[in-house]
Amino acid sequence: MKKNNINIFLIILIILIFFSFSGYSQNTNWEVPSDKKTVKNSVLTSKNVVEKGKSLYEKNCQSCHGIPLKNNGISLFPPPPDVGSQKVLSQSDGELFYKISVGRGSMPSFQNVISDEGRWSIIHFFRQLSQKKNVQKLKNIKITYFCVDSSQRINVEVFGENEKNEKLFISDAEMDFLIKRNFGLLLLRSEKTDFQGKTSILFSQNLPADSLGNLEIIISLKEDSRFDKVEVKLTKKWGIIPKTMNFNEIRALWSLRARSPFWLIFSYFGVVFGVWFGIFYVLFLLLKIYKSGGKNL
Ligand code: HEC
Repeated sequence: MKKNNINIFLIILIILIFFSFSGYSQNTNWEVPSDKKTVKNSVLTSKNVVEKGKSLYEKNCQSCHGIPLKNNGISLFPPPPDVGSQKVLSQSDGELFYKISVGRGSMPSFQNVISDEGRWSIIHFFRQLSQKKNVQKLKNIKITYFCVDSSQRINVEVFGENEKNEKLFISDAEMDFLIKRNFGLLLLRSEKTDFQGKTSILFSQNLPADSLGNLEIIISLKEDSRFDKVEVKLTKKWGIIPKTMNFNEIRALWSLRARSPFWLIFSYFGVVFGVWFGIFYVLFLLLKIYKSGGKNL
């Protein structure tokens, strides 16, 4: 009897030790079998493959690992690393493929969820992140503009500086021309700069402006792998002043009582008159019954 108790105690102890070790192993390096480490990516990379990997990542992985290069994964233990970090990108394709396929702890296994091709595409997407990180963005991006009032044209030039502080005109940059409205912004047109970093836009003559005839124009350079977003604002007396309409002067539902629509006045008085007529008619009949004293009934 006593020996049995000791056996049970030993078994529980072994189980506890096993669990504490398996918990411990989660903090340690994630070892990948050496024959798996050297497996080569069986999918050739291309723009489409990277796009596919990106969309698979966004659907299946981003909820834990966060937006790549932003270090905003959720807090788990051990934490899901940023997939653009050195910790991940320093590993071989085979290692990453193995980890994504098998999973560990709160990292799920994707072997039966995403096809081999899909998992390899995700790895291509990761690889392309390292290139993105290494591109030096241009600094001091400037948008200069020159307005021609007679034709309502704006000529725009975009340039920036590289790491050697050389001035470069930025070609093929996408730019939005917007005007400010009461509620939000109105996109007039998007343009791309030419090889000299230039573009221009003609404003039509009949854009509604504010009460002083001013148009508030916003030129917004869209973010690109080469530079960050830049915006400039300018005001031009290029619009037409909208005629303000006095809503009380027309016959409309929202107008003053004196100027409400005829059909509304007629139906209103019709109903009021009808109801009062009904009430008085009933009273009149009651009076008649009262007077007759029930003689004729
Ligand atoms: C439920 C949350 C979750 C989801 C979803 C998830 N992961 Fe993970 N991932 C983790 C955690 C947590 C770890 C750390 C695991 C560890 O070290 O034990 C991890 C680790 C990894 C690693 C290994 C990192 C290293 O340090 O070696 C890779 C690679 C990885 N995940 C890729 C992916 C990919 C690709 C997907 C989507 C197909 C994905 N993960 C989806 C939580 C998640």
